[in-house]
Amino acid sequence: MAEIDQIQQETGIMLDSKRIPKHIAIIMDGNGRWATQRGLPRVMGHMQGYETVRKVVRACGELGVNCLTLYTFSTENWRRPKEETDAIMGLIETATREELPELMENNVRLRVSGCMAELSESLQQALMESIQATSGNTGLVLNLAINYGGRMEILRATREICRRVLAGDLRPEDVTEESFSSFLYTAELPDPDLLIRTAGELRVSNFLLWQIAYAEIWVTQTLWPDFTEKDLVCAIADYQGRVRKFGSVPSADR
Ligand code: FPP
Repeated sequence: MAEIDQIQQETGIMLDSKRIPKHIAIIMDGNGRWATQRGLPRVMGHMQGYETVRKVVRACGELGVNCLTLYTFSTENWRRPKEETDAIMGLIETATREELPELMENNVRLRVSGCMAELSESLQQALMESIQATSGNTGLVLNLAINYGGRMEILRATREICRRVLAGDLRPEDVTEESFSSFLYTAELPDPDLLIRTAGELRVSNFLLWQIAYAEIWVTQTLWPDFTEKDLVCAIADYQGRVRKFGSVPSADR
């Protein structure tokens, strides 16, 4: 906790260790702007964004967050120039291979949400190897949303449910919120408590549409490559100051 302790001392923000969000989801936006502002190619922004990923994964592990989902590549991101999509995919593959020893050392379990079959063979292989190698780790779950789209995820789950109903393996009345969740990529993960978006846009961009129903949303103007552990502490402190009602009323007002 050395780094986090130091931030708490410097800022005077003391987090309640009993109310750390179990699942944090992040829309890592602003890589392109970060690069453009410096007259650099956009891909340099993604490379710097990767450095932020490393810091944030480490900090979430230190803080005792159970699960971190990172919006790494959306189904819509394929509309970008091929040069950029190739660079992002290459970066994910390099990171997956290079970070494996660190993931093991820090007891991090890697998983992926999204359509892996549409990724290159070598990226699929790198991801499968790291998922397999880290499968016994019991610390932070690092869930990378790659080739992920929220609407597509819901459609995919619905199609599978229809298939099972038609085959007589599932009754329509057994399709509940819980059972539906189990058909999503995030099956077995809790819903995100806190959704962080960097670079200021006020939208959810097709990210975890089903799962963020009751997530607390925290948006910062800070671009992802500039995001620090201190920003993470501020986001969690803000989350801890909120009253989560889940549609009910606070018990004090009853
Ligand atoms: C959004 O910024 C960012 C992405 C689409 C890619 C995110 C990828 C990384 C951070 C790199 C590697 C990640 C891992 C997990 C290894 P943008 O390009 O849309 O920014 P802009 O809105 O300023 O153009």
